[in-house]
Amino acid sequence: PAGAPDRSLARKVTKVGVVGAGLMASQMALLFARRLEVPVVLTDLDQSRLDKGVGYVHAEVDKLLGKGRVSADQANRLKSLVTGSLTKDAFADADFVIEAVFEDMAVKKQVFAEVEAVVSAECVLATNTSSLSLTEMGAGLAHPERLVGFHFFNPVAVMPLLEIIRGASTDDATLATAFAVGKSLRKSSVLVKDAPAFVVNRLLTCFMGEVVAAVDEGTPLEVAEHALDGLGLPMTPFALLQLVGPAVGLHVAETLHAAFPERFGVSENMAKLVASGKPGVYRPDFSLDPEAVALFAGGTSPSTAEQVRERVLGALSREIRIMLDEGVVAGPQDIDLCMILGAGWPFHLGGITPYLDRSGIAQPRFLPPGVASLPA
Ligand SMILES: NC(=O)c1ccc[n+]([C@@H]2O[C@H](COP(=O)([O-])OP(=O)(O)OC[C@H]3O[C@@H](n4cnc5c(N)ncnc54)[C@H](O)[C@@H]3O)[C@@H](O)[C@H]2O)c1
Repeated sequence: PAGAPDRSLARKVTKVGVVGAGLMASQMALLFARRLEVPVVLTDLDQSRLDKGVGYVHAEVDKLLGKGRVSADQANRLKSLVTGSLTKDAFADADFVIEAVFEDMAVKKQVFAEVEAVVSAECVLATNTSSLSLTEMGAGLAHPERLVGFHFFNPVAVMPLLEIIRGASTDDATLATAFAVGKSLRKSSVLVKDAPAFVVNRLLTCFMGEVVAAVDEGTPLEVAEHALDGLGLPMTPFALLQLVGPAVGLHVAETLHAAFPERFGVSENMAKLVASGKPGVYRPDFSLDPEAVALFAGGTSPSTAEQVRERVLGALSREIRIMLDEGVVAGPQDIDLCMILGAGWPFHLGGITPYLDRSGIAQPRFLPPGVASLPA
């Protein structure tokens, strides 16, 4: 991985702590136990949430056993590796503690203050935050140099990308340990600067923001929704929004709007969708829900599908250029890797930057002719 420190600096990880036992935390606990084969302790606010998280892991192990992916002995061993504790003193001898609690800076700071009180000074503290500033999160720590971003994608077992985020204070030993753990987990790690929403969520929010803006302005939702079908993305924008959840999508849009108000808007219609409590614009049978679609009505300047396509790809091209100028990642290939492995950008297009180069949208080009394309 570009920019990763010398791997000899990595520290050994013999026990893992996971704070939170929710959607991401329980999937992470299973992955750590399977790939590192070390004890993994989960914690949460109350016994029922904790039982649910540990129960999830044990049930997943049984599924693996049922499919013949692990032997009965391995299944027993895996289950015994993953345990729960309501108190954080169970983390005392852990060398790697990762949090996946609510996406709230105050909660995360509080959690790390509590963890820091029980672990050694070298224990790596990792956060699965999707959008919060790592540097701010580490500000109150006695040892902010051991804080690192470890951003998984849902579903954790399936998505191959890991965005590893270096904060202002993160030291090389911590970073090297994070990369070594990422490798043991068999993920492809990309080093990312501590920048709002990192890589994948920033570009997906840019993409989604343009589609929603076109609808807000009066483009029929079905037209905007299918304007980029030709790319062969794994799903349409509003289907993705529904998978992620409109509230999460809105939250990331607000984070990016706060950071870059001139480029990232917050759609009032999107806020209405969240307030309505609907899961998205689709019904369970994947037909459009007219009530949800009506929330986006009222615009008076419709675009054609081609205009929506140009608008989205143009915005992505500009945003990638800004990210490269800001040094969010080392180079265009890292953006390509993140989008292929974290967003399902079609592999056959050779990456998003070669695609934008080839289609003439990127001016000037991101990569010289001949890189992931035919020589001129
Ligand atoms: N859901 C996703 O697709 C996704 C993807 C990548 C990253 N993330 C990030 O992962 C984190 C968790 O998201 P999630 O979807 O798993 O949320 P979730 O609501 O499923 O789980 C959060 C858990 O944290 C627990 N918790 C809250 N405060 C706590 C505390 N002080 N101590 C211990 N436990 C506490 C809650 O009880 C809950 O069980 C967030 O930062 C989110 O941004 C989520």
